[in-house]
Amino acid sequence: MDSETTELRQRQANFSKELHGDHAAERSGMSALISKNKSAQQEAVKKYLRLWDGNVDKDAEDRRLEDYNESTHSYYNVVTDFYEYGWGSSFHFCRFYKGENFQAAVARHEHYLAHMAGIQEGDLVLDVGCGVGGPAREIARFTNCNIIGLNNNDYQIEKAKYQAKQAGLQDHLDFVKGDFMNLEFDEGTFDKVYAIEATCHAPNLAKCYKEIYKVLKPGGVFAVYEWVMTDKYDETNPEHRQICYEIELGDGIPKMFSVDVAREALANCGFEVLVDHDLADNNDPVPWYYPLTGEWQYVQTLSDIGTFFRTSYFGRKFTNLMVSAMEKVGIAPEGSVKVTAALEEAAVGLVAGGRSKLFTPMMLFVARKPLDKK
Ligand SMILES: C[S@@+](CC[C@H](N)C(=O)[O-])C[C@H]1O[C@@H](n2cnc3c(N)ncnc32)[C@H](O)[C@@H]1O
Repeated sequence: MDSETTELRQRQANFSKELHGDHAAERSGMSALISKNKSAQQEAVKKYLRLWDGNVDKDAEDRRLEDYNESTHSYYNVVTDFYEYGWGSSFHFCRFYKGENFQAAVARHEHYLAHMAGIQEGDLVLDVGCGVGGPAREIARFTNCNIIGLNNNDYQIEKAKYQAKQAGLQDHLDFVKGDFMNLEFDEGTFDKVYAIEATCHAPNLAKCYKEIYKVLKPGGVFAVYEWVMTDKYDETNPEHRQICYEIELGDGIPKMFSVDVAREALANCGFEVLVDHDLADNNDPVPWYYPLTGEWQYVQTLSDIGTFFRTSYFGRKFTNLMVSAMEKVGIAPEGSVKVTAALEEAAVGLVAGGRSKLFTPMMLFVARKPLDKK
């Protein structure tokens, strides 16, 4: 590891300790939010938002692309508690079937990816951008494989390790700090690699996929749910660009790429693409973005009411008011309201992108490294 990377990691680890404190992994949601160091939280919010100033010109975009590591690190420092509070410990979307509850649908989406990747008992698997380890726990249980979760956010790694131990899965799971733009594993280490809604944070998809290709064994499979703008997206259309910008800003993404960029990136690395399928492009009666809509007719079971309320339009307004009051009286750290406002923009952009099919969070690619390649 070069000295610049070592220095960056040390700085991020120190900042994470200062922001989240000791025993951070044991708390979650609002309890974690109010336990944060207030001045460090202000600093984290500032670091995240400084590059999202409304500008979508080339210079602004280049600055975001260059700063991808620090700004994503800061983004997840400030949103992880809100994600856990609103959504759970798997930070991704999924399809919904009629009558299926939210948690079951989330787990099914993970099982499907594991199935499509062909993950088998005993496989060594890399989870690229593993969040707090919700998918890794589910996939390890589902397949009895061994997973290394890679993440550039120290707080999430600490949580993932803690939760794996709580679940008794510590022998199957490990979580490490790293950057998916520069994987430090030996070539040909993994039987399978998967990524769930994470590589959209990459400043360059081709470089990121190349790294994944490198660490796969020959014949190994990479399966990904990619966030992309679809063929319908036209970057010169201001309404389209606005939707895309809301998604970028509210989700800490330096630049959303189009599906063609992802396709080309996979092919150029040498992958054989086995599956290329937008799972959101269907007539599902319950759309993937329903929890963000506030439309009660989509709620499938009584057990989903709490999740739906927290993620719905009114629930988000309620959270915003609550956080605003907590911030005013000094219980929640300053900057928390700015975070809920950015998440609100994301929700608006995601629903608009989903309804218009300009955006998908579940572009499924399954790709194999040819057997005769090193
Ligand atoms: C939307 S979350 C998805 C997390 C997880 N896959 C899940 O579904 O629960 C994106 C994840 O990618 C991670 N990430 C972003 N940029 C990264 C990078 N350069 N290297 C490694 N991980 C990164 C974030 O820290 C976060 O955990």
